[in-house]
Amino acid sequence: MSISPPERIELEDDTYLRWMTVDDAGTIARAVGESLDHLKPWMPWADAQSTDVEFQRGRLRNQPHQRERAEEWQYGLFRTGDDSFLGSFGLMTRRGPGTLEIGYWLHVDAGNRGHATKAALALTEAGLQIKGIERMMIVCDEANVRSAAIPKRLGYTLQRVEQRPREAPGETGRTQFWVADRIAARNPPATTP
Ligand SMILES: CC(C)(COP(=O)(O)OP(=O)(O)OC[C@H]1O[C@@H](n2cnc3c(N)ncnc32)[C@H](O)[C@@H]1OP(=O)(O)O)[C@@H](O)C(=O)NCCC(=O)NCCS
Repeated sequence: MSISPPERIELEDDTYLRWMTVDDAGTIARAVGESLDHLKPWMPWADAQSTDVEFQRGRLRNQPHQRERAEEWQYGLFRTGDDSFLGSFGLMTRRGPGTLEIGYWLHVDAGNRGHATKAALALTEAGLQIKGIERMMIVCDEANVRSAAIPKRLGYTLQRVEQRPREAPGETGRTQFWVADRIAARNPPATTP
């Protein structure tokens, strides 16, 4: 059992996740700028401000404190070799004690290759290794079918759907809460050969 998720996680598909630092501000700002049309329907923060390097620097400067307070761990997903940026993943404790939420977005050119599913799987496993964490959660709007496909593919259970105010233009407000529990992860259902 660990007390925090690892700083770096190697994935099988020649990619890796690592905590983001202030030095990544330019990379994130550029990736958001290149991906704005792809992000806008689903991410409330996807606007001109998020394409600004100084804005991203300020956000990332806060990360060490957020990690110390065990609030949030922000990872970049990078390709091994050329270290090109593929997407952004976060682990957040905002859903209450014992639960870690995974958030994600991919660069517009990095989709449809399984990168997000593999990174979410690695973070699910890493999260359930943390002392005191019993449940992993992915929250997405019902209309965001590409996002919902990820927990579905990973064997998460749809725990509930709640109506909440729409935050981004593509959303319906019907919000899905997908969960994977430590007990279920230890005892996966038997599969037929
Ligand atoms: C949500 C989001 C990350 C999903 O991206 P994605 O490309 O669908 O997810 P993955 O990288 O896991 O790729 C899965 C797709 O690659 C395919 N794929 C190809 N090779 C694969 C492989 N080796 N392994 C797994 N899947 C593979 C899968 O079949 C799947 O396609 P399908 O749904 O047509 O079957 C992306 O759409 C995004 O960034 N959206 C905007 C931001 C957003 O909505 N974030 C979530 C808010 S809740």
